[in-house]
Amino acid sequence: MTQIQHAHGTRASDSAEPAPWWRQAVVYQIYPRSFADADGDGLGDIAGITSRADYLSALGVDAVWLSPFYPSALADGGYDVADHRDVDPRLGTLDDFDTMLAALHARGIKVVVDIVPNHCSDQHVWFQEALRAGRGSPERERFVFREGTGPGGEHPPTDWLSAFGGPAWHRVADGQWYLHHFAPEQPDLNWDHPDWREDFVRTLRFWSDRGVDGFRVDVAHMLTKDLTEPLPSQAELDAMPKDGLHRTIDRDDVHDVYAQWREVFNSYDPPRTAVAEAWVSSDRIPLYASETSLGQAFNFDLLIADFDAEQFRRVVTHNLELAGRTRSSSTWVLSNHDVVRHATRYGLPAPERRPDGEPAVKHGMEWLRSGGTDPRLDRDLGGRRARAATLFMLGLPGSSYLYQGEELGLHEVADISDGERQDPSFFRSGGEDVGRDGCRVPLPWSREGVALGFGEASPHLPQPSWMADHAVEQQSGVPGSTLELYRRALARRREWQCEEDLEWLPTGREDVLHYRRPNGWEVVTVFGDADHAVSRPVALLSSDDAVGSRVVPPQTTAWIAPSRTD
Ligand code: GLC
Repeated sequence: MTQIQHAHGTRASDSAEPAPWWRQAVVYQIYPRSFADADGDGLGDIAGITSRADYLSALGVDAVWLSPFYPSALADGGYDVADHRDVDPRLGTLDDFDTMLAALHARGIKVVVDIVPNHCSDQHVWFQEALRAGRGSPERERFVFREGTGPGGEHPPTDWLSAFGGPAWHRVADGQWYLHHFAPEQPDLNWDHPDWREDFVRTLRFWSDRGVDGFRVDVAHMLTKDLTEPLPSQAELDAMPKDGLHRTIDRDDVHDVYAQWREVFNSYDPPRTAVAEAWVSSDRIPLYASETSLGQAFNFDLLIADFDAEQFRRVVTHNLELAGRTRSSSTWVLSNHDVVRHATRYGLPAPERRPDGEPAVKHGMEWLRSGGTDPRLDRDLGGRRARAATLFMLGLPGSSYLYQGEELGLHEVADISDGERQDPSFFRSGGEDVGRDGCRVPLPWSREGVALGFGEASPHLPQPSWMADHAVEQQSGVPGSTLELYRRALARRREWQCEEDLEWLPTGREDVLHYRRPNGWEVVTVFGDADHAVSRPVALLSSDDAVGSRVVPPQTTAWIAPSRTD
């Protein structure tokens, strides 16, 4: 039995208009401080991105998404933004930004920037003013300041916990406390205050006017909060249904903010796009992906899944169905700057799962805690499965988000000493959560040199020696390398892309998935350990290079050319 899944509310062919660029784009995430260092200070920068524009073009991506490059004290890798409308001087200037934008646009690559609206840096001018202005001042109303509890107000207003560990309140010199869902250096904004609403509109216009094509919205499910007294306890918060009326998370009224942003986006031609980072239950994702809200939302289900046919199929079916509830397209992600790289996850034993199917611990966390020794990482198996998973993903309808370095088959770096760590989750959890530095190590561009071609100075996070084997220079033009596989896959994908539908074909095996796109492009993935025969020869592309054969080897994805190209 086959089943055709229509992934979207309107088919591209329903209208004469070409589909908007973002619907099936390949978006490459750049973590700017670790991509390329042009000025030789050990920190990646905007000019570094410009210098690698040809690399991005040859890779064949449709867009890049830049993680924050704004002025920041780097308490959370730049997600503590001190000024939303400038470039961190260590990364360059606004002129450098314009040059980069022009270089990427000249190569047909769109640019999406990260916007961080739930919190800012404690160095932000409005927060500094709030500190100076004192309790009861209008300046403090832009944030969430409260009196403490207990004698002299020495205890926090509530027992709420921050996402990085420790209390979610921080006490200032005059004795008041402010709310920070993340690090203490990231005070939450009061979204009931009109100043922030106006200020963010200004920011969106500032970047849109410069020519930025879209925005990735950080923790989009937070922002608005019902903080009427009495405030609930953490246990009460945890027990509240997440139905849109929760006090602090995924509230329906956050979409009032996004409706205003939507007007801004749609006032440009072409409309600016947005994608929500919303960690919410999947039935609430369509709210963020709707045309009156942000228009697209990340789905992290593949990123959380094991390398397992049944899980992958369930994730795809469910998310195409969800995308169909809006007029958006689905998104797919295997790696980003917050998780252990997928080559490494797939080379480690699958994590234990709770009864609800969620992983009991973050995949790879124990291995990271052991400094990369226990359990043993099977690098080859992980890399092989990662290539197969990537080709599986790139064949799906919708847009795929790639994270810098995955095209080099990079593994997570586990051997970073405590003194070199930067991630606040490491410090705030007392080392219990090792943090995310291991996927943020600067990219290896060449085999030699103090920073493997990343720059001229020792990099801000140490590169282990094995990274040299993954260098761009090492893989470029080498048949069978992961980099060449990505390049060929992105080129074929562009050629073969078609309507956003998918049909599952029977395989007779539980560990093999086979789907067909409307133009006949077929994707077969063998998750298990035995070869799988297919009726047509595997054309042009396979994660194992078994091109031209009628057999798909274990842990491999093969693409079968479309019978017709649209
Ligand atoms: C998002 C970012 C993460 C950051 C957090 C706080 O989840 O992806 O890197 O630490 O928001 O801004």
